Amino acid sequence: MELDTYDQALLDGEYGESRQKMMEILLALGKIYDAERFIPVKSVQVSGASFKTIGDAGLEWLSSIDAKAVVPAFLNPIGMPRNGWEELGIPQSFAEKQIQVNEAYMRLGIRPTCTCTPYYFSIVERGDHLAWSESSAVSYANSVLGARTNREGGPSALASALTGKTPEYGLHIVKNRLPQIEFRLDDPEAAKKWTNAEYGALGVVAGAIAGNRIPLFMGLRPNRDMLKSLGAAMAASGAVALYHVNEITPETRFPFFKQHIAEDEREVVTIEVADVLDVFKETEVSAVAIGCPHLSREEVARVAELLAGKKTVMPFYVFVAEEMRASCAEELAVIARSGAKIVPDTCMVVSPLMDHAGTVMTSSGKAFSYLPGMCGVTPRMGTLEECVRVGCGE
Ligand code: F3S
Repeated sequence: MELDTYDQALLDGEYGESRQKMMEILLALGKIYDAERFIPVKSVQVSGASFKTIGDAGLEWLSSIDAKAVVPAFLNPIGMPRNGWEELGIPQSFAEKQIQVNEAYMRLGIRPTCTCTPYYFSIVERGDHLAWSESSAVSYANSVLGARTNREGGPSALASALTGKTPEYGLHIVKNRLPQIEFRLDDPEAAKKWTNAEYGALGVVAGAIAGNRIPLFMGLRPNRDMLKSLGAAMAASGAVALYHVNEITPETRFPFFKQHIAEDEREVVTIEVADVLDVFKETEVSAVAIGCPHLSREEVARVAELLAGKKTVMPFYVFVAEEMRASCAEELAVIARSGAKIVPDTCMVVSPLMDHAGTVMTSSGKAFSYLPGMCGVTPRMGTLEECVRVGCGE
């Protein structure tokens, strides 16, 4: 790989032993993927923040590093809220370990944003090179914002945070961002009435077909929250880090992409609306969990509107970023009055909250895919409206 003087100095240990090791990780990655050089990144998002997922080995590794982030770096959801975890029944033994993980990241200069939606609180522009690692955030950054990031692992993202660099390969290169499989619906008119949840269910179906290919959807007109649901689900049921929706996501409007979309041959798959709706099978529910990925302002407002004046009759969790509190205080107060628990900093999958919680109803295609394996629960998919109806015993 071609190294500039800063890259070489990092590798020579001139910026300390920890950064030297981090650069060695990035160099190894670059060699595996035939990168020609390193490029600077504008921001980093670091996953591997819950003790549930990294365990003692991860904590030990983090504690061995001695350097600070040189670019804005955000932390993914941790395993519990930073405040009030006792009231949620988080075991003391887990909490103590999680606090050590939080402190280790803060010592490294990683901002404790504890969210998978850092794009609500930081400026990301089209064409920005990033090193983000949480799969739904990667999908949103690439697809909806038109930024460029590979799906980093926790260690490689941290390495980028501490050096400011990433190897240039994969989705950092424009020609690797072109669609590889095309999806159409057998009844595109049906999608006009869809909410975020149906887009999540579409993601469950499409991701399983796409695998790690880059999908292009034709004939859909989703808004940003719908795109968020679609991308998050495809990242979970498949390994989709970038997708396009023709005439909606930014890159499909560029002449270079338009030309390739018009001229390139690719597999075309028609998805039946019936298969999407089949994800919404009815079963008895013992808890409701919404906010995967963490809710946007608009989603918080919609949940508040639906829960206003009602009382929940079962555990009902609403996951948001802590930073959302300032801008949605009134709506969150309405939600809290219903008995629903607002849970910041963590998520339904990486916290122990849902572990063995029975059948959990969610409006998220990503949670629907991950809850069984990560939490040992049966998932039920529902729209936000259905989640509120069932959660309030109506
Ligand atoms: Fe976010 Fe956790 Fe879902 S990290 S996307 S809320 S699985």
